[in-house]
This record gives sequence, structure tokens and C-alpha cells, in this order.
Amino acid sequence: MSLQSEINRRRTFAVIAHPDAGKTTLTEKLLLFGGAIHIAGAVKSNKIKKTATSDWMEIEKQRGISVATSVMGFEYRDYKINILDTPGHQDFAEDTYRTLTAVDSVIIVVDTAKGVEAQTRKLMEVCRMRKTPVMIFVNKMDREGKDPFDLLDELEKELGIHVRPLSWPINQGYTFKGVYNIYKDNLELFTPNKQTISESVQLADINSAELNKLVGDKDAEKLREDMELIEGVYSTFDIEKYLSGDLAPVFFGSALNTFGVKELLDCFVEIAPSPRPVHTLEREVNPYEENFSGFIFKIHANMDPNHRSCIAFVKICSGKFERNVNYKHVRHGKLMRFSAPTAFMAQKKETVDEAYAGDIVGLPDTGTFKIGDTLTSGENLHFKGLPSFSPEMFKYIENADPMKTKQLDKGINQLMDEGVAQLFVNQFNNRKIIGTVGQLQFEVIQYRLLHEYGAQCRWETINLYKACWIESDNLTELEKFKKRKAQFMAIDKEGRDVFLADSNYVLQMAQNDFKDIKFHFSSEF
Ligand code: G4P
Repeated sequence: MSLQSEINRRRTFAVIAHPDAGKTTLTEKLLLFGGAIHIAGAVKSNKIKKTATSDWMEIEKQRGISVATSVMGFEYRDYKINILDTPGHQDFAEDTYRTLTAVDSVIIVVDTAKGVEAQTRKLMEVCRMRKTPVMIFVNKMDREGKDPFDLLDELEKELGIHVRPLSWPINQGYTFKGVYNIYKDNLELFTPNKQTISESVQLADINSAELNKLVGDKDAEKLREDMELIEGVYSTFDIEKYLSGDLAPVFFGSALNTFGVKELLDCFVEIAPSPRPVHTLEREVNPYEENFSGFIFKIHANMDPNHRSCIAFVKICSGKFERNVNYKHVRHGKLMRFSAPTAFMAQKKETVDEAYAGDIVGLPDTGTFKIGDTLTSGENLHFKGLPSFSPEMFKYIENADPMKTKQLDKGINQLMDEGVAQLFVNQFNNRKIIGTVGQLQFEVIQYRLLHEYGAQCRWETINLYKACWIESDNLTELEKFKKRKAQFMAIDKEGRDVFLADSNYVLQMAQNDFKDIKFHFSSEF
């Protein structure tokens, strides 16, 4: 197969959801369709148990297995599908955000009863920023939930994206009868069963008498009315708008009952984008270029002291990656070759000989990589678009063993390179502040500093609301602001100015008082 067709058939995406909406169940069903697993429950057993305490060692034990589910590759029809896992629950971390920088599209799972929830909203912000095409699966239709029209309004408002239903439910909960597949113009009849695939009926059109026979007069009439309303309110599905991240097609179903999943997958492979051009500081990189290029978006450290190696995950942005070929580690300016690159196919970790743009390859790493590093066939490229997002929790990190200052500094630097958390240095008192998006990260850092670097740290509480990256064309104003807020000014690891606002009120006041200054909640603007 030519390079072009290999790349064209790749679909690399993430499933995002608020915990409990059904992400794991849906992922598992997608894998079942791909023949990647044979029994339901295989993914589930790998997932971080919801009952997990904040005891991260326990979580880490489970996470050992979750390397296998970080990237799940499988073949479906003529497509090569790569699903990237986005950690949630207790292990929600910056990793979750960064994973979204390595996908070409996203499927959002929403619980019909709960609608849009916090974690989904946060992750959607990243998608919006990057104009990632988004598809929505409204799950748990076998349960009572919100009125579908209200839900569509909620999706538009809460996710800040236009929506267009491509399937439509006939009732829900106990009286759920199925969905009308608008994309394919057929009727999917629901049978509450976890194993079998639903029955699909091709209708001549929605007015056919067969519909009445299958779902009853009342529901048939209601469906026709709903469809009329949909056609009146929503314009016809425009794939270009989907691809530019402005319009999200919506499907309804029940992952647990394997209902509506195949329809979602069939539409997904047909319309979701293959790898797209990626920006570097130097130029735009086209996926079909012969030369290989890729960037590291995730580093998975092994906490087991007997196996201290890491896996660095590379998203291939262009060309073909080959085993045992020399590639340039651009930041170090040196050549490296990899004898044991891995990929996860059908849930099995395998050594790969070659991989193409869109694929993710795991490289064994002993500390040579940091997040955002670029590998190429030789060209000096630097990929853009691995932004840092404002952390939600902040703590001063203090040295608890004055004899080990060097070790502590080295440890903090390396852990930050790995992307475990963010470091800010307060410019007023020179103290180091660590920012994370999940409480667990503080425990992870403390443990790793001790066990890997022999350094001891102490945490000191600090009340901060957000970290804002600031910029302005008005340099006098910028200097004035920095002076006024001196106690709250810090620099991040790249030396950029960051304002640490201690409350939403303070931030709003600052925005009001300094109209020429832009406050960003991510480092990429
Ligand atoms: P998550 O990864 O997004 O956190 O969600 P997960 O798939 O684990 O699903 C959360 C719960 O919702 C699970 O129940 C799962 O069985 C259930 N669920 C998923 N899809 C559907 C659906 O279409 N209909 C219904 N009724 N339930 C669904 P649980 O009791 O928490 O777990 P388990 O005991 O079933 O494993």
C-alpha cells in the first residue's frame, strides 16, 4: 500500500467524557467491533477502579496495566484506528489534556440524564482551542433522561459548538424502542441485550407504513414530527463544518447494550479526518511528506523500582517511522535509533517495524526525552501546540533535607520535563510553586523525588485560583502591571511571565484595570 493510502486510512482519536458517562464501556464496544477483544469487560478490568482511594500506590499498581490501554490500535473495515486513552477519575492529570494534542478528532460521551458535566467542559475547551473535530454520543438511552431537544440545546450552549443530530431516539428509558439513523436513513430497533447487535431495518422513507408496524402508530407519528422539527431547525449536515470544528454530529445509543455503537463507528470512519497538517515553528508539516517527523506527547514512568524505564509516546506527524533507522532528536542535535519501538495492536504490546503518520509509537526511554521533543529524519523542526494549561491546585515546594538541595532541584526539573506538573518561580520571594490539575500529583511527586532522587520535599499550602500567561503590545502597561502585582508574578519553566491570581475577583479586577493586557489560561495563544 502506498504511503498516501496508509495515511489516509488512519483515524486517531480520543474518547472524552465525565467519569461514569460510559467512556470505558463505549471504548470496549468499539474494540469488540474491531475484533481487537473478544470478551466484554476486558478494558473495564484495566481501568482505575472508581472506588480507589487517593492512595496513589494502589492506583499506580493498576496504572501498570493501563499502559496497555494508553493507545489502542485496531483494524475496522479498511481503516486503521488508534484510540488514545484520556485518564480520568483519580488519575486526571495534565496528561489528559496533552493527549488531546495528539489526536485528529474526538468522540464525546454524554450521559442522557446528566447532560454536560465539568470534566467534559474542560476537555472541550482544549478541542475548541485546537479546532478538533468533535462527534457526540448521547449514552444510556435505555434509562430515563433529558428531553433530546433540550439536550441538544444544552450541548450547544455548554460545549460552545453547533450540533446536528445524525440519529434520533424513539422514546427512552423503559419505552426506548430504538433510533432512526438519519445518516444512513434506516431504523435501528433496540433489544436490551449486552451481546447481540441490534436489528436494522431499511425504510423506503420515514412516511412508510412499515414504520407504524414496527414501532406503533403513536411513536411513528412522534418520530415524524420530531424529524420535521429537526429538518426545520438544523441545517443539513455539513461535513466541512464538522472538519473545521464548528459542528458536532450527535448520535444516541446505549453503550452497555451495544446499541448505536456500530452506527457511530461506521459514520466515524467515513467522516472523521485522517492525520492533518501540523504546525512547527519553522513550517507546516504535511502528513504525506516522505520524511518522518513526530513529537513526544506523553511519558509514562514506571514506578516499579525494578523496572525504572519509561515509555515515551511519539505521535507520528509525517511519513513513515522505521525500526533501527537513525532519527534526529532535535533538542539534543544527535541521532538515535530504536531497536524496540512498540505499538499496541488489539491490546497486545508488539514491537513494530514500521508505523505511519497518525500512529503512536512507544519508545523505551531512560530520561532522554521531555514532553514536546521532536524526532525527525534530519530536519530541524519544532512542533508547536503542546500548551500548558492553568493548573487548578498550587503548593509551595520546600526542601526538607538541606543536604540534598541538588538532588531536589534535579528531580523537580526532570519531573517537570516529563510533564508530571508545572513549576512556577515566584519572582518576589524566589520560592518554587508546583501547580497540578489533580491532588494525586502532589503525592506522586513527593514519592518519586524520594525514591528516584533521594530528595525530600515538604508542601506548604498556598491559596491561588489560576495561573494566567500575560501579554500586551503596551510594554509600559505591562511593566506597570508587573510592578503592581509583584508579589504574584512568577515565571514558568520556559521563562514566560505568569500572573498568579488568588481569586476570581482579583483576576476580574486586574482585567478591568489593565485593559491592554491579555490574560490567557493556557501558554499557547
Ligand atoms: P466511564 O468510563 O465514563 O467512567 O464509564 P463506564 O463505562 O465505566 O460506565 C459507568 C457506568 O455506567 C457503568 O456501571 C456502566 O455499566 C454504566 N453504563 C455504561 N453505558 C450504559 C448504558 O448505555 N446504559 C446503562 N444503563 N448503563 C450504562 P457501573 O455500575 O458503575 O459499573 P459496572 O458494575 O456495570 O461495571
